[in-house]
Amino acid sequence: MSENEEKGVVCVTGGSGYIGSWLVRLLLDRGYTVHATVKHLNDEKETKHLEALEGADARLHLFQIDLLDYNSIVAAIRGVSGVFHLASPCIVDQVHDPEKELLDPAIKGTKNVLTAAKGLGVKRVVVTSSISAITPSAKWPADVVKAEDCWADLEYCTQKGLWYPVSKILAEKAAWEFSKENGLDVVVVNPGTVMGPILPPALNASMLMLLRLIQGKFSTLVQHVHVSILLSGLIITPLNGIDDGVDLVVGCTETYEDFFMGSVHVKDVALAHIMVYENPLASGRHLCVEAISHYGDFAAKVSELYPDYNIPRVPKETQPGLLRSKTGAKKLMDMGLEFIPMEQIIKDAVESLRSKGYVS
Ligand SMILES: NC(=O)c1ccc[n+]([C@@H]2O[C@H](COP(=O)([O-])OP(=O)(O)OC[C@H]3O[C@@H](n4cnc5c(N)ncnc54)[C@H](OP(=O)(O)O)[C@@H]3O)[C@@H](O)[C@H]2O)c1
Repeated sequence: MSENEEKGVVCVTGGSGYIGSWLVRLLLDRGYTVHATVKHLNDEKETKHLEALEGADARLHLFQIDLLDYNSIVAAIRGVSGVFHLASPCIVDQVHDPEKELLDPAIKGTKNVLTAAKGLGVKRVVVTSSISAITPSAKWPADVVKAEDCWADLEYCTQKGLWYPVSKILAEKAAWEFSKENGLDVVVVNPGTVMGPILPPALNASMLMLLRLIQGKFSTLVQHVHVSILLSGLIITPLNGIDDGVDLVVGCTETYEDFFMGSVHVKDVALAHIMVYENPLASGRHLCVEAISHYGDFAAKVSELYPDYNIPRVPKETQPGLLRSKTGAKKLMDMGLEFIPMEQIIKDAVESLRSKGYVS
């Protein structure tokens, strides 16, 4: 279908977020009418960048939802033919009550979205999972490239308190179970570490990870960061007594051993969502990375491109046992997605951080 053609109505949960904003933008560009959900309709930081998008005046409708409030989700989904479910809880502080702070919103939220979609006659739901539902998976054969049939090890993640991967594994499993039991058409995208140009005013966790890397710090004070999250290997803890939770201490595992599997451009992640939504033959999971790579490869490339930044050296094997592959995302490649290479991902991401004043 050509761009700007009227495409129908879809809902994007988490539309205010880093990936969500790009998805809303590309959907509007393609002629879709979009119901985008935000957590707080009266917070300009969640709405203004969406309202400024081309086509938003006529074809963007914002809805306030809470993932645990079923009725709020029903209101956002009513009248749409497709749903993109991206909304997932952010972790502020280390998780003291994983169930309440992270697992319930992720898992019950997914079930709520799917139940509403089924009840309202939605044709297809695209669920945003993660490579965190694919890796860490130490029992995977060392001589086989990880692919869509690989699942992260739930027991290992639970034992190590890796609650973000646990939430993504269980939320994705809940989606597949719901789809099977209720005959709802569900397709899943599993992005790697997502980077590139930033649309919202706040930094999300994966872009914050890059910011920390180019600032040469693995444990430091971050000023004026809105969201903190455990994602893609990042553990961000608010300082006690700091108001609003806007000043944060960042503690990163330097190698992201349990989290990193490759990077991907935010625009490609948004495109992948649209491709699997529009292609009637798309089914199952879709690993979405420009290549399966190690965090060390990524850090080395950032260092090569930006020698003036004090990039910390990382050990050679940051993801022991992870086989590299240029065609890890073969399913999406076969559907026609030409991934933006790592070098361009880094350049676009760093330039965006610079233009927004996060780094000089
Ligand atoms: N970034 C990555 O590297 C990466 C990699 C793999 C998968 N993913 C997945 O991609 C999705 C989007 O991630 P992102 O990086 O774009 O993160 P993000 O910028 O933090 O966006 C998350 C979105 O979810 C919303 N949300 C969170 N908890 C909610 C709740 N209880 N009720 C309603 N809305 C809620 C947030 O609303 P507020 O903005 O109002 O908080 C925000 O719009 C997530 O499912 C994430 O797990 C991300």
